[in-house]
Parts: sequence; C-alpha cells; structure tokens
Amino acid sequence: MIVESSEAAQWRPHNWWKTAVVYQIYPRSFADSNGDGTGDIPGITSKLDYLSELGVDVVWLSPIYSSPMDDNGYDISNYQNVDPLFGTLDELDTLIVGLHERGIKLVMDLVVNHTSDEHPWFVESRDPNSAKRDWYWWRPPRPGGTPGTPGAEPTNMAAAWGGPAWEYDERSGEYYLHIFSRKQPDLNWENPEVRRAIYEMMKWWVDRGVDGFRMDVINFISKPEKLTDGVPPPGKQYVPAFKFVAAGPRLHEFLAEMNREVGLDAHNLLTVGEMPGVTIDMARAITDPANAELNMVFQFQHVDLDRMPEGSKFDLKPLELPALKANLNDWQVGLADVGWNSLYLDNHDQPRAVSRFGDDSPRHRVNSAKTLGTVLHMHRGTPYVYQGEELGMTNTYFSAIEEYRDIESVNYHADALSLGMEAEMVMRSLSAKSRDNARTPMHWDDSSHAGFSEGIPWLPVNPNYLTVNARAAMEQQDSVFHHFRKLIDLRHEYPVVVDGRFQLLLPESEQIWAFTRSLDDSTLVVLANCSSRPVEVPGDAVPDLGRAQLLLATHSATDTLVLQPWESRVYLLR
Ligand code: GLC
Repeated sequence: MIVESSEAAQWRPHNWWKTAVVYQIYPRSFADSNGDGTGDIPGITSKLDYLSELGVDVVWLSPIYSSPMDDNGYDISNYQNVDPLFGTLDELDTLIVGLHERGIKLVMDLVVNHTSDEHPWFVESRDPNSAKRDWYWWRPPRPGGTPGTPGAEPTNMAAAWGGPAWEYDERSGEYYLHIFSRKQPDLNWENPEVRRAIYEMMKWWVDRGVDGFRMDVINFISKPEKLTDGVPPPGKQYVPAFKFVAAGPRLHEFLAEMNREVGLDAHNLLTVGEMPGVTIDMARAITDPANAELNMVFQFQHVDLDRMPEGSKFDLKPLELPALKANLNDWQVGLADVGWNSLYLDNHDQPRAVSRFGDDSPRHRVNSAKTLGTVLHMHRGTPYVYQGEELGMTNTYFSAIEEYRDIESVNYHADALSLGMEAEMVMRSLSAKSRDNARTPMHWDDSSHAGFSEGIPWLPVNPNYLTVNARAAMEQQDSVFHHFRKLIDLRHEYPVVVDGRFQLLLPESEQIWAFTRSLDDSTLVVLANCSSRPVEVPGDAVPDLGRAQLLLATHSATDTLVLQPWESRVYLLR
C-alpha cells in the first residue's frame, strides 16, 4: 500500500517509533512456503496473524534483494529487486499490504557500505577506464611489493571475515577494498554520484510503502582521508578494518545529507544505524533530533563483554552481570536527555540470548528467557525481538564443522586451525558465538523440521523444537511467548515504560538486575534475579512496595523480596 501524504502523517505520527517494538525476521530461516528448504516471502505472509497476536509494531526484514548469497544476502547485486530464492516484488507488495492491514510497519535492511562484486556498478568499475571506476576503492599495490602476494596490499587492513581487506584484480593491476568478504567491495561514498544513486534507490522504496531502514554497518561509509597502515595486534600481520572506519570524518555529513535528500525525517521513517565501535558520544550526536541524522543506533559494547579485549569475538571470556548492567546503564544515562536507544540482546549475528545471558537448561530456560525479556523491554529505548527470542529458542550446539554454513564461522575455523589452535577449542568458540546459532530455522510446531519447511532445511533444525515451538507456546498461558506479548502491551499502555527516567539499583550485585523508571507521579520498579540461585533483594535498596501494583511477574506473587532463580517482577507505584 502506498500511503498518501495526509494519511501518511496519521500512519506514521512524529516519533511513533518511540512507543514501538520491532520484530526482526531473517527470511531464509523464518517460514518456507515452497519446500525448497529456504524461508521466503510468501512464508512470512502466511505468519502475519502470529506477529499480530504477539503485538509487535514493526517488522525489520533482513535482506531479500538479488544476491549471490556469499553472506546470506548482505551482498546485494540489485537493490531494486527480490532474489528468486525469496520470491518476487509482487509477493513483497502483498506482504507490505498484509502487514499494513494489521497496523504493522515494515523496515527494510539497507546495505550500502558495500555491494556484491556481481552488482553491475562493480562489474563496470572493474574496467579502469569506466566512469564507475571511482565508485569503489581502487588502489595500486604497496610500492616495492609484488602485486598479488601477501604484504603487497596497499595497507595492512584486515577483512572482517579473515585475510586482508584488499583483493588484487589482475586486469588493472590494482586492489579493491572490501571490509567484509572479497565478494563485498566497499562503495566510495566520497563520490557524490554514488550517494545520489543510493538516495534515489531509497526513495523508490519509500514510494513502495516501506516505513524505515535498518542501515547495515552504516558508520563504515566514511573512510579516513588517507588509508594508511595501522599497528597490528601482537603476532598478527593485519589490523581489523573497523578500527580505521568506525568513525570516519564525513559520517555526520553523509547521514544528514541522506536524511535530507531521502526525506527520512520528513516522512517520519524509522531509521536505525548498525554501528560496530560506536561510542555514547557519537551516538548522542547521531540521534540528537536537532542534527537530523538517525533515530537510533545499534551499539556493540554490551555484546562485546564476553570476548577478550583485543581478541576476536571467538576469544571467549566469562560474562559478568555487573559489567553488563553497567554498560546498559551508561547508555541509558548517556542518552537520557538527548537521543534515543535501541535495545537488543540478540539478532542474526549474535548467539541466542537465553543461551548467552541466561540459563538454557530445561529447568531454567523458560524463566530466564522471560526475565531477560523483562529486563530489556523495561529499559528506555526501542526494543528489538529477534525471531524465536519470544519462544526462548536456544543455541544449536553443532558438533561438526560441516554443519556450519556461515562464512564468518567457516573462515574462522580454517584460519584458527592453520594458526595451530586446538580443534576442540575452536569448536567450543563456534558453539558459543557462531552466527548460525541464531539462524537455525524458526520452530513453528512439533511436526517434521519444526513446521518450517516440507523440504530439507538449509541449516539443521535445533532438535529441541519438539518442546520449544510456537504452537505449544501459544497454547500455554505461562509461556515465553505470552510473557513477551505482555511486555509489548505494557509499553503500549504505560507512558512510564516509554519515557521514564532510568535509575539502576544495586549496581554491584552479581545476581540481581534491578532498576526504577520514573515519569511524573509514576514509578516502575523492576526486580530480576539473573542467576540460577535464589537471592533476597535487600529491602533498603528498593522503594517501599507496600502499595505497589504488580504489573507482570514470572512467578506467583509473594510478600517477600526473595527471588527464585530467574524470577522477575515489574511493579508500578503511583
Ligand atoms: C552487518 C550484518 C551482517 C553482515 C555484515 C556485512 O554486520 O548484520 O550480517 O554480515 O554487516 O554486511
């Protein structure tokens, strides 16, 4: 449905995204309508009543565009078409109508730091004499280096998925920059023609009826004026690329220009920028409405707390609750007066929240999934639910490397073994951190392949679908699903959930996550036991709850402040 302008103002009132909850769909793993083992757009359309019952306001669709699928669609070869694996543009229009009819908005993934190497722009750019040569980052080999051999790259930048970030192209004797895989060349945003082409494409999607954009690694678009060598970590030859590009000199200028040219704020679109390495100060500037850049960003600090500093995400470190609380608290405080937070614990790039931050054993899985949801959703910001999080879906625990599909996991395994790391340790890291943990098919019911597909799924289904699935969760009133539904209702019903000032209580506690939110004469008190042992909340650390109304709880009400393992309560005081 293409909404007309006056209607549009009603459909997307100013700041509507502040009261919204977003649901992320990873299309290849959501629902397969044609039995080819891969999820698709008609599959999504067949599940709209489910989303409606959950009560979410927005769907964010991971990429469905034409793609050679080197990085599952984050390598786009045509921004204005749908990949046949997922369906057709007509089917996408049908999905948009179906969502809008249910009052649900659609946010598209916008991947414009890079294209696929099969995008016609890049194909043309390979010709050194083409008008598009400067649309990408072409550079000669390092002086004195033998082109195409290790060390001859223009700089010592490492790609995110391993190896150097420069790929040699024999035809012209030059290298091109790719922060991700060699099939994901970086666009040159310094070139105004590139920016114009991207804005035109975005406007085309806005005209088609989409309600916003989730912008992939958008802080990488502005590169330093001079690409030079960095200092590699001990024992390494190359330096992770994001260190160079996380906060480029023209980032604010490009984002503001995009906003103006596409009319992002003028159309009240939801805009969220994925930004590895973003700091609170940067995020304040980017999400300050006065600067007209973006509504919110995805920060990474809280999902980097369980890795060794200076290590890769696969260098595991135990997670400490006080550190996690402190980080989210810093973001709450940092963006309290200006800007806006996004709130997430998992997505298609992260392990499952309940396995990472909770306790996914059969005994505690349900309560810990509920309690993590409670804590997250009661923070100030826009919460994101990743498909299956509302069921308490868990990591997969694959035992063989052959089961993994993700380019990052497969490359990490090969690199780590070639560096002499123990195979068992490498598998342990993958089992904790692989992106495939989040990408196993959605569990719809207890029929074969969890009701996801009538064919063989592209990635194995988690065997626990027999108990963890949407049908069972919808039938059981005390399921994770109904708990998330209630959390979403609370945000819609109580302004204090949306706007209340955040104050962390008991910051040092290693078991309790407690805080208040206050707005006018309402105060929310959130008490959560984020551990698998009982704990008593010290009475003097929390407001008097004598007159408080219990809005939502994981366990039956009691008068004491003893919290059972993974018990959480949300009180309202007026
Ligand atoms: C973002 C995406 C991730 C993708 C990468 C490269 O981090 O979320 O899935 O692999 O960008 O586009």
